[in-house]
Amino acid sequence: MNPETNPMNSDAPLRVMLGERSYDIRFYHGNLAQLALDLRLFCPERALVVSNETIWAIHGCALSEALTLAEIDATVVHIGDGERHKTLQTASMVYDRLIEGRFSRRTCVIAFGGGVVGDLAGFVAATYMRGVDFVQIPTTVLAMVDSSVGGKTGVDHPLGKNMIGAFYQPRTVCIDFSLLRSLDEHNKRGGFAEIIKYGVIWDPKFFAWLEENIEDALGLEQGAVHHAVRVSCEAKARVVAQDEREGGLRAILNYGHTFAHAIESLGEYKERQYHGQAVSIGMVAAAEVAVRMDMAPSEDASRIRNLLARAGLPTSIPRDLEPAQIIDRMASDKKVVSGRLRFVLPSRIGKVEIRDDVPVDLLTAVIRDLRA
Ligand SMILES: NC(=O)c1ccc[n+]([C@@H]2O[C@H](COP(=O)([O-])OP(=O)(O)OC[C@H]3O[C@@H](n4cnc5c(N)ncnc54)[C@H](O)[C@@H]3O)[C@@H](O)[C@H]2O)c1
Ligand SMILES: [Zn+2]
Repeated sequence: MNPETNPMNSDAPLRVMLGERSYDIRFYHGNLAQLALDLRLFCPERALVVSNETIWAIHGCALSEALTLAEIDATVVHIGDGERHKTLQTASMVYDRLIEGRFSRRTCVIAFGGGVVGDLAGFVAATYMRGVDFVQIPTTVLAMVDSSVGGKTGVDHPLGKNMIGAFYQPRTVCIDFSLLRSLDEHNKRGGFAEIIKYGVIWDPKFFAWLEENIEDALGLEQGAVHHAVRVSCEAKARVVAQDEREGGLRAILNYGHTFAHAIESLGEYKERQYHGQAVSIGMVAAAEVAVRMDMAPSEDASRIRNLLARAGLPTSIPRDLEPAQIIDRMASDKKVVSGRLRFVLPSRIGKVEIRDDVPVDLLTAVIRDLRA
């Protein structure tokens, strides 16, 4: 990795500025012992660790040992693995454990897992006894750079994803990069789609850095993955600090997501929840829309597409999806405001605009041309 492009790679915690709810994101490289010692401050009494069997089978012993050494009195509860377990029913099972175990108001809920565990554990923490302390130890790239930052917690409802939830900030987030070594390639690369997204919407220098260092970062080379995750957290934290409750600016985080949600809910992506892969396609499509709207130079769209391809992410729309099908699905998205499709379009790398005036003909042409 090129150290010159890496001036911010400090082990110092990253402060998320949210007034009295401000908190630190802490970084570690294979040091759960120190991580647990740092958590002590937030666990004055008992802790409930929420995780799942998959993660626990790999990293559970190491975390348990570290918590014991740090004298944190922790009980572990497992939820099922996968989005289909992110439900009120699962939350209710966790409340049962808390109530039966007589956990008090001073309990700390520790989420140890990916976004599913983090969203559900955060929601339980936000609601148990009207709110107990909550900390996150994210174990996927997506959870490190996206779901653990910003305070959105919640569960799915049979009629819609993330329909029930609360904004609830953690007391701290502890990121240990060594946990990522066991993550499968699809989930790892999917998380990098969100990392690349921050470069496009927010930080052209970071995008250029990724162009130089993407292989090292994906290879989990210590300095590179640290820089990629830290700058991503910083980007999301800045956006959230300016718009904690999604009034305006936070919408730019949806770059690539209008297309992605439609693609994810159709065809082969429906079975396998590869959100990042769908976002990758969506970012390519939105960049192409921007070029055809004469908002952006075509070199920028090529740079975005090339970087995503180098990260091993898909850049074309599955052939079996018809343009009309995708457009209909986008129009039925719950976030559509007064019938107009809204897109976050990059006007250049590092800057996006929100537009609701993309002609259907242009959309159809872009989708047709991106099918492979
Ligand atoms: N709160 C937010 O702001 C926000 C933002 C984006 C996404 N989300 C939510 O995040 C969820 C997706 O999160 P995700 O992508 O982390 O998926 P996930 O939590 O389902 O994890 C993906 C898979 O990886 C496994 N896994 C996790 N860590 C591992 C590790 N270190 N080694 C081996 N396997 C590991 C998990 O068991 C799971 O099978 C969705 O529910 C989504 O709605 C929330
Ligand atoms: Zn996303």
